[in-house]
Amino acid sequence: MLIRIKKASDVKSSEITAKEAILNRRSFMAAAAAASGVALLPAFAGPAHAGAKFSNVKKTKWGEAEKPTSLDGVTSYNNFYEFGTGKTDPKENAHSLKPNPWSIEIAGHAEKTGRFDLDDLIRPHQLEERIYRMRCVEAWSMVIPWVGIPLSSVLKRFNPTSKAKYVAFETLVDVKQMPSQKFPILPWPYVEGLRMDEAMHPLTLLAVGVHGEAMPNQNGAPVRLVVPWKYGFKGIKSIVKISFVENQPPASWNIQAPREYGFYSNVYPDRDHPRWSQGSERRITGEGGLKALFAPKVQTLRFNGYEEEVASLYQGMDLMELF
Ligand code: MTE
Repeated sequence: MLIRIKKASDVKSSEITAKEAILNRRSFMAAAAAASGVALLPAFAGPAHAGAKFSNVKKTKWGEAEKPTSLDGVTSYNNFYEFGTGKTDPKENAHSLKPNPWSIEIAGHAEKTGRFDLDDLIRPHQLEERIYRMRCVEAWSMVIPWVGIPLSSVLKRFNPTSKAKYVAFETLVDVKQMPSQKFPILPWPYVEGLRMDEAMHPLTLLAVGVHGEAMPNQNGAPVRLVVPWKYGFKGIKSIVKISFVENQPPASWNIQAPREYGFYSNVYPDRDHPRWSQGSERRITGEGGLKALFAPKVQTLRFNGYEEEVASLYQGMDLMELF
């Protein structure tokens, strides 16, 4: 098991500079606001506790016609192994996660790097609601009204260089907050990656909420990735680091079982999982008792139904091999 505890001496001077810059900018903004008599907008971190409602979310066309899975369904049947491997473990155990304050380190091949408050990363952008179909590799699915912003709008602000071919993501490591990190269920931290064009695709979200509320801990508070044309495990939760990298980065399930889970992990019903079919899925609506077992069965579509939007990203690739 790998637990990385950062000592003060490990902190790079670039990180310190970035933090100072944040603090300076804040005091500058506060001074400017005071001088003009304008009250500063409440920080994005306002809805910091689960259940708090966002007031400024723009509705979008995405998923207008879909019937979303209930809030109870979305928040009580989860995969978040840092809190246990059972589907109800995250809801029971994730109260120990402290999502506020939260910062993300931006690293690698970009003109700007450093550590930034989540608040500062999200606040300049309009929050949107996108109702996406989400397909889990275990052949169940939900329809989830996410609140978030396109990942591209955050990434662009750091001016990635031409060496940035992929984006790598890391979840928090802190055994006090994430008690199942005591156990070597997966190598910690949970890591994931996207190719640059996937990360920049307009469908790819940095999500901070669900059903109009701040992200519940069990769903990856305070911030997670959402890539609706890929299997759910690409949606890394509770992100603390985003790096622009030159080579394909490691991805937790791909490291764990490379024959079963590839790096791309596109929803592709033509290619079965070695142990089960990927041709259909149980759609969890959140109504009824046993969550997945008796949920209605629906056909799984290529790229989870987002083929028109994303198939061009993979032109010329053999998706049976590069799964
Ligand atoms: N992120 C972290 N850090 N740890 C995890 O165990 N599980 C993944 C993904 N992100 C996971 C994670 C898997 S397997 C799935 S299916 C989705 O989160 C589930 O997201 P949900 O619980 O919000 O539906």
